[in-house]
Amino acid sequence: MDLASFARSLEALEERALSSVAAAASPDDLARVDAEILGRKGELRELLGGIGALPTEDRPRVGALANPIRERLEAAIAARREDLELAAVEARLAAEALDVTLPARPLHRGSLHPIRETEREISRIFGQFGFVVVESPEVETDELNFQALNIPEDHPARDLWDTIYLREPTERPAGAPRRLFRTHTSPGQIRAMRASTPPIRILTPGRCFRYEAVDASHAFEFFQVEGLMIDEGTSMADLRGLLDAFAHAMFGAGRPTRFRPGYYPFTEPSVAFDIGCVVCDGSGCPACGRSGWMTILGAGMVHPVVLRNGGIDPERYQGFAFGMGTDRITMLRHAIRDIRAFLANDLRFLERL
Ligand code: PHE
Repeated sequence: MDLASFARSLEALEERALSSVAAAASPDDLARVDAEILGRKGELRELLGGIGALPTEDRPRVGALANPIRERLEAAIAARREDLELAAVEARLAAEALDVTLPARPLHRGSLHPIRETEREISRIFGQFGFVVVESPEVETDELNFQALNIPEDHPARDLWDTIYLREPTERPAGAPRRLFRTHTSPGQIRAMRASTPPIRILTPGRCFRYEAVDASHAFEFFQVEGLMIDEGTSMADLRGLLDAFAHAMFGAGRPTRFRPGYYPFTEPSVAFDIGCVVCDGSGCPACGRSGWMTILGAGMVHPVVLRNGGIDPERYQGFAFGMGTDRITMLRHAIRDIRAFLANDLRFLERL
């Protein structure tokens, strides 16, 4: 073999290789072509391995012939690789394209429960008079739910509250308090008095429990907001004025209100606070028992025994307390007839309010 035919072989190889590179359809395909031509066992190596058949004086010139060919092939492969990779990216982009012009699915937004909204509105109104919200536990001791509120064991007044006692996991140690689901938020009064010193103005909203036969106006789980104010020189007139302001803010400025005598062991005197019926506006209808009035809360001046149980000197301080049914107030605000709707979790009900 002479140098000229060696050169022709090189040119032929280049020509074949370039068309293989151009024909490579994928990066994998191209890698295979690359190995076949330029690889360690590739065609170029194989051809160059044959220089032994050339005359000795021609051999040094082989490099000058072969190197530009190798460089052109390498460049062609690199260029082809770039094209193929770009094409692959473009194909993926096309395949994964999102049609952003499609109208979005409507978002399902939650909202506050109507009871919670009422709680917040009550807190907002009393907040304007300096009352702050404090939490009080749902599981209480007999002492705080009853005894400290002037309701001793075996007192007939306990019949006012149909209590759900807890079955304790183990035998109660002697002297450990009997625990129950609070029947009202009033134990929050004792906690607030023991936790601070007058002047006190607090609200404790929350869930209460009673062993009730359930019907449209009784639930065994319901909500109250308790209010307590303790200071020097507080009177029934302050209580009346505050509750009037509340009733007007919640149910409209012209809403008539009245006090009726009531009874609670922890207040003396005790009252029921009524507003003019929100259904018939006083003319008398089935909703108000044809009286024209609806009771929205119980209240009174805090009993001296209760003050003392809260660690407060009844000679120096007085105060008043009130407790309202959040469910009942919510029912009046939204003309809801059945208290059971609040805990049924029916979205059709919850979304309509
Ligand atoms: N705790 C009473 C009830 O559940 C309401 C109340 C609270 C009355 C505070 C007077 C003072 O019926």
